[in-house]
Amino acid sequence: MGLIKTLRSVASFSIPTLSRHKRRFKRAANIADLRLIAKSRLPHGIFDYIDGAAEDEITMRRNSAAFQQYEFVPRVLRNVAGIDTTTSFLGRTLESPLLFSPTGFTRIAHSQGELSVARVAAHHGLPYCLSTLSTRSIEEVAAVSTGPKWFQVYVWRDRGLVKDMLTRAQASGYEAIMITVDTAVLGRRERDVRRGFTLPPKLGPGTIIDGITHPAWTWDFIRNEPITFSNITDPNASSAGTAVNLSYFISQQFDPGLSWDDLEWFRANWNGPIILKGVQSVADAVLAQKHGIDAIALSNHGGRQLDSAPVPLDLLAPVAAATGGTLPLICDGGIRRGSDIVKAIALGASLCTMGRSYLYGLGAAGEPGIERALSMLTDDMTRTMSLCGVRNISEITPELLSLVPAGRI
Ligand code: LAC
Repeated sequence: MGLIKTLRSVASFSIPTLSRHKRRFKRAANIADLRLIAKSRLPHGIFDYIDGAAEDEITMRRNSAAFQQYEFVPRVLRNVAGIDTTTSFLGRTLESPLLFSPTGFTRIAHSQGELSVARVAAHHGLPYCLSTLSTRSIEEVAAVSTGPKWFQVYVWRDRGLVKDMLTRAQASGYEAIMITVDTAVLGRRERDVRRGFTLPPKLGPGTIIDGITHPAWTWDFIRNEPITFSNITDPNASSAGTAVNLSYFISQQFDPGLSWDDLEWFRANWNGPIILKGVQSVADAVLAQKHGIDAIALSNHGGRQLDSAPVPLDLLAPVAAATGGTLPLICDGGIRRGSDIVKAIALGASLCTMGRSYLYGLGAAGEPGIERALSMLTDDMTRTMSLCGVRNISEITPELLSLVPAGRI
């Protein structure tokens, strides 16, 4: 009797959930688990578009692996009873040093797409940067979010289209723009090439089996409005509703002639901070600062553009030194753990980004999946800070890190 009582006090029983999928989601312990659930729920072509990268995917792998170069130098007995993760970026107080990155075609992962991302970001006091290639419009996203919103700009050959989007973003309360500068042409994503992947995705004879074997996604896809390039209102600018090969589309529509001189045009047409996303060298970071850019995202587009590109984490310290520590730096790429965020901040980042991490959550379980991905990263970050003896973001300094001794696994 006594034993049973003791057992009762330590064991908790829950009614088993019938759905294998729900069970897996409930038990997911980290972003890698969410990725595997997304992999089983999404059709192969969709998963590969999100998960894949350019050519041999060397850059994508290195982005994540780079974090393992460092270990912490934890301090003890520092009274970590209250951890404060708030930070300030471009004059805004944020709950954590995190940004929801722009991701194209977010509704391919789940019909709620960008609206879900915007709601979660706003609910947690974090910025969301909506992509030019989003599948919900500037205005639709603004209608569900009172949080900080930024707009990501791809520069179209047709500057009238860009001007129109900037005007709409400004009118809808977006606070900053992020101009992507690493996509003069699209990187070669060989998984997409093999699958003949188009955007928006089509359910044709070739993808029917994929659809049948992923019924939850397919049901969500066919029962909701078609996926379109929601920001493009000019019918001549693109085949807004029809499926296109992304590489061809971008070569037709985006301006490969974009140069530093064009930044003046943006200053004249955007009243607010301008961030460059896709800076990949110390020299360009210094040029960005000379051009009066407000912040830069050190980014190789998650390894989706140039393969064998430098890793953002490695650029942080040299860029911070070359720009005198006064240009706010965003570290974009490979962040899968809260400890990765702490390492990036120690090396000079002001913000880190979530891209694939939230898409895995969205693909795994819709909006609750994004919530889960975010809490995994923020809980991890808070725990890491406690275990390292740092109480707030300003206490995360380079002294917190040391390089893992050479040859150690
Ligand atoms: C991509 C573009 C659309 O990475 O940003 O697929």
